Amino acid sequence: MTIERLGIVGGGQMGAGIGEVAAKAGIDVVIVEAAAEIAEKSQGRISASLEKAVSREKISRADADATLARLQFSTEPGELADRQFVIEAIVENLALKEDLFAKLDSIVTDPDAILASNTSSIPIIKLAAQTNRPDKVIGTHFFNPVPVMALLELVQSLKTSEETVERARSLGEQLGKQMILSKDRAGFIVNYLLVPYIVNAIKMFEEGFASAEDIDNGMKLGANHPMGPLELADFIGLDTMLFVQEVLYAEFADPFYAAPPLLRRMVDAGLLGRKTGEGFYRY
Ligand SMILES: NC(=O)c1ccc[n+]([C@@H]2O[C@H](COP(=O)([O-])OP(=O)(O)OC[C@H]3O[C@@H](n4cnc5c(N)ncnc54)[C@H](O)[C@@H]3O)[C@@H](O)[C@H]2O)c1
Repeated sequence: MTIERLGIVGGGQMGAGIGEVAAKAGIDVVIVEAAAEIAEKSQGRISASLEKAVSREKISRADADATLARLQFSTEPGELADRQFVIEAIVENLALKEDLFAKLDSIVTDPDAILASNTSSIPIIKLAAQTNRPDKVIGTHFFNPVPVMALLELVQSLKTSEETVERARSLGEQLGKQMILSKDRAGFIVNYLLVPYIVNAIKMFEEGFASAEDIDNGMKLGANHPMGPLELADFIGLDTMLFVQEVLYAEFADPFYAAPPLLRRMVDAGLLGRKTGEGFYRY
């Protein structure tokens, strides 16, 4: 059951993190990016993360070098042909993901290979339906930053086989993660609970009920959360937050999930949180 050859499509925040953890675990990893300069950035991101781990004495120099040697970067999806397990981690956009799953199905030659998605919100069956192996398509929802967060949320669609769930669980064990299993519904387990919590914090801030600092300190000091909800929204990225929220709203048609106008305006203004240097806070 051990996975030796993993493919990742999209080497951004999440794809790079998954690649780093997998290569550290001794797995041969190919990361496919959309363009050469982004692939270089992805490699740089992983090198920087490993450097930090070496300086904090969490990993030896030799292990960091061996980890980097197990990672290949490419712009050619054909490089994924021999993979036993491929994880898609491109932008949260249904049309792009559907197109990619159709392509992966013909590129990945082993008919038993698993095609997984790291989507935060898109129902897995929509991606599985683009392939001739819907029983081998599963959600593998990692959390950010992947090297730090223990959780891997597995998402079983109506067509995902039990064997696929077990193989994904086994990969999660190789990566040192702890798994939970969710059915295939927008938000899965964690975002179904987390998103309305963050939405309520944004509404509170928008109404002028309390300052961002007081909202965040309330939850950090009073509920022992490591980050407050507005800090967390900035960390996730407000564009990603808005997209996930829209998927939840479309699925449940419940005003509880409706995006506050302030969130939309901040996204329109390019205030996306940490990644653009400003969101609810300045970085
Ligand atoms: N950011 C989070 O906290 C978080 C947490 C869990 C899950 N996710 C999910 O993970 C996925 C990726 O999110 P992210 O935060 O890493 O985004 P990101 O924008 O940092 O990275 C996405 C990467 O995909 C690349 N890409 C886009 N289209 C591609 C294609 N066709 N082929 C190859 N590469 C392509 C982009 O160049 C970019 O580098 C999304 O589905 C997101 O919902 C994000």
